[in-house]
Amino acid sequence: MTVKTQESTAGWFSNPAARTWRTAPLGSTTRTFHDSLPGYAPTPLVSVPELAEALMVGAVFVKVESQRLGLPAFKILGASYAISRALSTRLGFPDAALTLEELRDRLASSSAPSLAAATDGNHGRAVAHVAKLLGLPATIYVPAGVSQAAKDAIVSEGAELVVLHVPYDDVVQHAKNAAGENVMLIQDTAWTGYEDIPQWIVDGYNTMFAEIDEQLHEAGIGRLDLVIAPSGVGSFAQAVVAHYRSTEHTPAVLSVEPDTASSVTTSLSAGELTSVSTADTVMTGLNCGTVSEIAWPVLQAGLDASVTVTDAEALTAVKDLATLGVDSGPCGASTLAGARAMLADADRRAALGITDDAIVVLLSTEGRAANPKGFSPDA
Ligand SMILES: Cc1ncc(COP(=O)(O)O)c(C=O)c1O
Repeated sequence: MTVKTQESTAGWFSNPAARTWRTAPLGSTTRTFHDSLPGYAPTPLVSVPELAEALMVGAVFVKVESQRLGLPAFKILGASYAISRALSTRLGFPDAALTLEELRDRLASSSAPSLAAATDGNHGRAVAHVAKLLGLPATIYVPAGVSQAAKDAIVSEGAELVVLHVPYDDVVQHAKNAAGENVMLIQDTAWTGYEDIPQWIVDGYNTMFAEIDEQLHEAGIGRLDLVIAPSGVGSFAQAVVAHYRSTEHTPAVLSVEPDTASSVTTSLSAGELTSVSTADTVMTGLNCGTVSEIAWPVLQAGLDASVTVTDAEALTAVKDLATLGVDSGPCGASTLAGARAMLADADRRAALGITDDAIVVLLSTEGRAANPKGFSPDA
């Protein structure tokens, strides 16, 4: 697919037709796979009444991904499941997600590949971590703007780190060129001819929504009105839309991205997949110029709205959440910044169908330790 390029546009976009769009649910077996990983436990879903009051809604729950399978971000849900599916397929089990133990046994007696990924930080660390658990070598490519802490974390997983002085989209291209028969690319964005692994990554995120459904049910909440997700290449937002457009009760879904890397908002406004030029941001994991090709049709049809936020708004949200006892890095806290941008304005509230008794979930996808940039992780 040829993708046109234009300058990043800040602002917001809403699609009223999205609420009635429906799609098939994501694969339901991912939780069984994640359950087999060392240290799996559902992450907390915490109610924050102070935010509900400030945002003039009934309740705000924050899904806190600051500790997920030993890492400070949610990305390992997708990376671990996709690596298992890709290696299982290579070993002759195309429909299975073999456990790490099963994979280790079988890989010992076959020619094992190395793993590679391009990353803004979290995805690459997750790939490096799973490679370490499997005893496989990994090479992780990063743009120079990734925080030193995130680079050190990737190296601490035993991976080779390659720092490139080019934007994220070009780093993906480098990783793509390095892939081959014995170098398996585990990338969280799709392009024509490279769709299976990105889709398995999206499927892996489903475990988070299964947990949320269960946690809301346990809290006696039978309805959900708005789910807010941060967006980089849009794979996570694709998973959010796929889940909440296949459930019986369908909340509005809002994506949030930096005003300097607004690939989703710009594409939705243009009515076609459009690459944008990007600039440095504290929301490191969201610094992507091109939406994944398999995410795009899902987002175009099923995303209710998309909004951009500034670095200053994201950093204020990091600080405010810390004060409320929630450990959230800039990508995660961008969801609060997005909620503020949308819910303080009557037209935007109406576009999302939000009333003063609405139940809102913010998907806080990383902790402060993941990509400390522009703030102190101990704040
Ligand atoms: C912490 C965090 N949140 C959200 C995202 C966005 O996910 P996606 O790139 O799939 O849109 C990323 C991507 O790396 C991330 O690291």
